[in-house]
Amino acid sequence: MCGIFGMIGANAVANTLQALKYLEYRGYDSAGIAAKQADGIRIYKSEGRIHNLEKLLKNSVENNADSSFSGTSGAGYVESEIAIGHTRWATHGAVTTANAHPFYSPDGNFAVVHNGIIENYLALKKQFTSRGAVFTSETDSETVAYLLQNNYNGNTLQAVCATAKSLVGAFAIAVTTTYDNSLYAIKNKSPLVIGVSDVGVYLCSDIRCVSHWATKVAVTPDNTVVVVGKEGVRFYDFEGKPITVRFFTTDAAEEMEQVDGDFMLKEIFEIPEKIRLTQEGYFKNGGFGVEPERVRNISRIYLIGCGTAYNSGLQIAAVARKFLDVDVLPVIASEFIYDNYPVDGNTLAFFISQSGETADTIRAAENFNSLGGYSYAVTNTKASSLCFACKKVAYIYAGGEFAVASTKAYNCQLVTLLLLTLDVGRIRGTVSNEQYASVLRALTGIPSVIEEVLSHSYEISRIAETVKDSSAVFYIGRTTDYPTACEGSLKLKEISYIHSEAYPAGELKHGTLALMEENVTVVAITDGTLSDKMASSINEVATRGAKVISVSPQTFPNALSVTLPKVNTLLYGIVSVVPLQLLAYYVAKRLGRDVDKPRNLAKSVTVE
Ligand code: AGP
Ligand code: GLU
Repeated sequence: MCGIFGMIGANAVANTLQALKYLEYRGYDSAGIAAKQADGIRIYKSEGRIHNLEKLLKNSVENNADSSFSGTSGAGYVESEIAIGHTRWATHGAVTTANAHPFYSPDGNFAVVHNGIIENYLALKKQFTSRGAVFTSETDSETVAYLLQNNYNGNTLQAVCATAKSLVGAFAIAVTTTYDNSLYAIKNKSPLVIGVSDVGVYLCSDIRCVSHWATKVAVTPDNTVVVVGKEGVRFYDFEGKPITVRFFTTDAAEEMEQVDGDFMLKEIFEIPEKIRLTQEGYFKNGGFGVEPERVRNISRIYLIGCGTAYNSGLQIAAVARKFLDVDVLPVIASEFIYDNYPVDGNTLAFFISQSGETADTIRAAENFNSLGGYSYAVTNTKASSLCFACKKVAYIYAGGEFAVASTKAYNCQLVTLLLLTLDVGRIRGTVSNEQYASVLRALTGIPSVIEEVLSHSYEISRIAETVKDSSAVFYIGRTTDYPTACEGSLKLKEISYIHSEAYPAGELKHGTLALMEENVTVVAITDGTLSDKMASSINEVATRGAKVISVSPQTFPNALSVTLPKVNTLLYGIVSVVPLQLLAYYVAKRLGRDVDKPRNLAKSVTVE
């Protein structure tokens, strides 16, 4: 949630604007930029999407409202060599221009942007309002600007450190000031990457974004103050003591991707290729890599994540129960943090996260570590915070995922988690070499199976027409098909806004059947095992007037069929979710929704 960016270098405003477009997936309630000029700091901010901010910047130049600007960029924006920017996903205060970042300090000598939550903001606010201060916004973030002014005593670094020490919560904060030509940043728990190139120095919430410009990057540790100047980057603890942070060379510069259509559809069509890369990548990186002795002693495995990442854990838990001799339990990360799940030295947990920046998942990993468990990250993002929070990491190779609704990352998570859990089984002797070889062979064939499914996307698009006016859509499945139902349902609700729920098929008759009537759609998923049971469930709902769509290698008399190729049961979920991803996409499109940026959501949830 929220993306922050800052840079020192030529065309800082134009580059910040470009970065905000990239970071828009992190929040799109409002956006703003602060540009440092010779005579002070100018702030531009507006509610809604980045293009509103872009218009505002252009208009301010065209109307000559700010003739004091040191120049304009080729694109017609105000320009500066120092700028900070923000895309917001509101946590404190409504979605308004007044609550958009950046915020000035009352005397205008500081401007700040913030990603995270200042938990003690009410107490801090009170300190100032009791002395007569009037805040311009309802946000927690504005307090930081007040603190900076209050703590300034002729030395900016000291003011920033003193401010950092009085904050409680999660924060990545960028600060520009009239007092000198450096950018300052404070980091605790929210992501902050620093990048350098021959022509500029950058700070950013997202490593892929900063890699567009930077050749070297550093991931800022918690409780750090950063000073970014033309002469380089320095890191300090909150007491102002210098600390060393390692820079590393980034992979090939990430292109700022632009697509003509929607990212979501593009990302669904990339699934076959990304599965191939993920399977290859797993072996290239040396596979599971945990000492056999430790694996033989494991007594329990957790699969922990949020949303789609949790659903991939739910799926692999159901799959791995078929070949492992230990308890395999999926847990929602935010629940794991506050519940009392047993953990000891023989507990292994996979922490699953596309972004690697989900606050709930990172907190869960930290708690798990403190109880002595062995934490293993499964993520799409190199050098993300989750990688540092876990003892080992396996990367998935889904590539940049920009649609808020996660698709290809889910399929790739399933592949990596399957390979990891199969390796646990091999070491423990519950998976034979023959079984392993046969699953691997079948897995190698999965991309072509999905290509075949994708070639029938027009059929799903036609079915979407019959689903789009449903008052509710229920997804049902048993055992390994139930997690697929959960993922299909999550996809539909988040981008179409149609009410949707997922159930184990046998559970319907214990209550939810009361909701069946005309105008309700039921999507029934089965890999073909237990299909008699599914046939009964389909009859039960169809008799009550619901429209049924089946997703299965076989057809059912009362249902509109999406017929899938027959594949190994352990791999069926990787395939059967694809028509559900497409269905959600086409339904949302038919309803005129903004599929890539659904209301109220953000791609990366960096607050608890
Ligand atoms: C999925 O479509 C979501 N938008 C969301 O549930 C997401 O999967 C969840 O927030 C976890 O994100 P992560 O994988 O980056 O940790
Ligand atoms: N708490 C800040 C706000 O509401 C930042 C939000 C965030 O990072 O998600 O503006």
